Amino acid sequence: MYKKIGILTGGGDAPGLNAVIRAAVRTAIGEFEMRCIGIEDSFEGILGETQLRKLTTKTVSGILPRGGTILGTRNKGSFCKIVDGKMIIPDMPIDEALVNLKQNKIEALVVIGGEGTLAIAEQFHRRGFPVVGVPKTIDNDLSATELTFGFRTAIDIATEALDRLHTTAASHDRVMVLEVMGRNSGWIALECGLAGSADVILIPEIPFSFDSIIKKVYEREKRGSLFTNIVVAEGALEVGHSEMYLDQKQMRLGGIGDYIRKEVEKVTGKESRCVVLGHLQRGGSPNAFDRMLGTNFGACAVRALVSGERGKMVALKSGRVETVPLADAIANIKSVNPGGQLVRTARDIGISFAAPDEEEH
Ligand code: F6P
Repeated sequence: MYKKIGILTGGGDAPGLNAVIRAAVRTAIGEFEMRCIGIEDSFEGILGETQLRKLTTKTVSGILPRGGTILGTRNKGSFCKIVDGKMIIPDMPIDEALVNLKQNKIEALVVIGGEGTLAIAEQFHRRGFPVVGVPKTIDNDLSATELTFGFRTAIDIATEALDRLHTTAASHDRVMVLEVMGRNSGWIALECGLAGSADVILIPEIPFSFDSIIKKVYEREKRGSLFTNIVVAEGALEVGHSEMYLDQKQMRLGGIGDYIRKEVEKVTGKESRCVVLGHLQRGGSPNAFDRMLGTNFGACAVRALVSGERGKMVALKSGRVETVPLADAIANIKSVNPGGQLVRTARDIGISFAAPDEEEH
């Protein structure tokens, strides 16, 4: 049994991080009489001077509904550099971190993060350090788990945004474009598009054509609907083009929504507006589901460590939390299946993905 474990959060924040921290601390202290150390600002906190703080049931009291992470986070830094648009994990800081962990008598780590953070955690495991990961990302694009916490809250926020855009679009007979997050996968766009009654959903998995978007706008006009709501994932791409970046070197996606708005306005002459939902999808309080899932993940991660599991990640499988190898968790991105049920349902009810060969409904 470990005497002292470290907990850290890495990557972009997501609603529910504090729920995981709270559950991990309460389980470790209350159930297994271990001590908990919070590592600040992702893995950065175990380098140099180290930024560590004792976590007790008192210090995690009241954080369950709080957005962000009380430990701070980083999605770039010494462990993860972006060089020419590619993510690199250098070896050197891991050596230093292992020395610091030993010096501070931290015997195991609970690492809460997405693909990049879990890839770093896997490096610690390869060096023989006990690690259990907890999957986080609002994008829900980790293949080894049915769900990541944070995703459902993001869907709620994006759906509310679509509902609100709906009434203003209908009042002004406009085309509204909502750009949502989704770097590699279109889960947020797809699910909020279904829940918020979008007319067109554009996702990275189904490249779109402008002709097809315009066709949908005109088809709606013919039927007497003089407005159109389009939801686009930031990583969506036009056929024959690549993703659109605000800053390609730093891999910061963005701009696709406004590009679509301009083109649609130019061709149809209809007034169009674009809203970029951005970090509103990540900030603020988690919904009840993400608080529950985060809590279950946090407690199960500590249990997994205590029962001797190493190099694993907790994952949701058929509604139960189980563990899977970290290596599997980072191997593949979970993409939307263009032939899958949700896409088919969306098409059945008349939503267009603006694929070049898409039939009119
Ligand atoms: O991974 C989640 C995510 O929300 C992506 O969809 C998005 O591209 C990215 O984070 C943006 O992160 P940041 O602006 O914090 O660098």
